[in-house]
Amino acid sequence: MQQIVGVIRQLLGPMAGGRVMPQSLNLSRAARLAGVSRGELQKKIRKGDLSTFEGEVLVSDLLRVYPNVELENNEMIERVALIRELAQPKTDYSDGALPIPPVVRSRLEKLNAILGQTKSALNDAEDLIVETIRRLEAMAADDSIPDRTQLGELARWMKESANAGTQRMDQRARLFAKDAFLRVVAASVKVIPSGHEFFVEGTESILDASLRAGLHLNYGCTGGNCGSCKARVVSGEAWKLRQSDYRISEVEQGMGYLLTCCNTAVTDIVLEASEASSAADLPEQEILAKLDQIETLSGDYVRLRLETPRASRLRFLAGQWARLGFKGGESRKLPIASCPCDGRHLEFLVKKDPDDPFYCGLRRQTGSGDKVAVTGPFGDFVLDDDSSAPLLLIAVDGGIAPIKSLAEHAISIDTVEELYLYWISTMEPGNYLDRLFRSWNDSLDNFHYQCVPGHPGISDIVDRICDDCSRLERVDVRLAGPSGEIDAANRALCRHGVAKERIKIDSVP
Ligand code: FES
Repeated sequence: MQQIVGVIRQLLGPMAGGRVMPQSLNLSRAARLAGVSRGELQKKIRKGDLSTFEGEVLVSDLLRVYPNVELENNEMIERVALIRELAQPKTDYSDGALPIPPVVRSRLEKLNAILGQTKSALNDAEDLIVETIRRLEAMAADDSIPDRTQLGELARWMKESANAGTQRMDQRARLFAKDAFLRVVAASVKVIPSGHEFFVEGTESILDASLRAGLHLNYGCTGGNCGSCKARVVSGEAWKLRQSDYRISEVEQGMGYLLTCCNTAVTDIVLEASEASSAADLPEQEILAKLDQIETLSGDYVRLRLETPRASRLRFLAGQWARLGFKGGESRKLPIASCPCDGRHLEFLVKKDPDDPFYCGLRRQTGSGDKVAVTGPFGDFVLDDDSSAPLLLIAVDGGIAPIKSLAEHAISIDTVEELYLYWISTMEPGNYLDRLFRSWNDSLDNFHYQCVPGHPGISDIVDRICDDCSRLERVDVRLAGPSGEIDAANRALCRHGVAKERIKIDSVP
């Protein structure tokens, strides 16, 4: 009997460590299976529709709220993937949807073992139930047993419950089938002590996957030379993608240490790793990047794109600034308009001003390939990555640069419930940025964008914005633009009851 209880426990036990299908799932995996964003799940948890235990969602709860889990029902995943694709120019990230063959083989072998165990445990449990019902029925028919009608009742109840259970399992089976499929194409990583989670997909290294997910794990060269990305696998299995010059001692290897830039995940992993949690945790860096593109936007701005060497990406937080210096020209601190998830491709907006020495220096550049000194990052106009509160982003004109970076990062980390972006702009609508934000607005359920032409009477505009946004008492706000306008907007927001400590402002001339 104890053996059978063990089998059933095993059936309901967690899958981590190669055991059978899970009874509870981490938030990332649950969101992926339900085909919704993590922000959407967090909203349900806060409303009490879903409960969590130690950060995990019960499978039964998930199926109650999302009963139609289908492999084909991956609309949200695909949409988020598409938006990330558009938001983040791919560089040396994952170049294919499938992991490398040895990793796929290893994952399939593990799933095969789990399916074998599951099948055998199910057979044992089924035999036990059938035999129990047979014996109960035999006892119910035995005239020598007193009160045998109760035994007959018990046999009937067991039969009915077993049939009902089979029907319930159809729903569970669909979820498990989808879970098994997703486990072959992607492994999940949980970082401790922060609790952050992300998926490793395709041929990505653990480091690249964490950057794509908007996390800030420590790293340096990204090529196995410096050791800055050293972390410890507490549980789970990794696979070495490439050799490294940096040596990890055998003792440390035995303790689970590896380089996240050189390894991928085979199974779900718990990883002990250092992460930057605030602007103060990032070192100031000096990088010689090359000019990739200068593009005139409509209105008063040009877009500047730089590419750093492969081994020297800029580590920064969304919303921070960097100083740019061209040979023979003035240097200038500018907000970074791109996402930290792609530290190799940096984007800036520069105001067209023929009297500005920096702009004149930029115009003298001969073109693609010119060297640019990049120093930074600076500033603390950043998000609270652990907040799932609705996020209200308001940009006035060139303030859209840091706001775009924040929006891209918020989409990457996928924890914000609702994201509202208002761009109060004198630029012609239909420019590249306006089109980009409209495409996000069309693709993401929780992203809402409006371009508000001109900015006379900014307090009136903020009044309208506040009427649009619900639950202002728990909204996080980031405001960027010329100081006069954002100060007025800040005052208007406070009048509407937004708590001062929830507002951060960035003055962008
Ligand atoms: S980042 Fe330098 S070894 Fe991984």
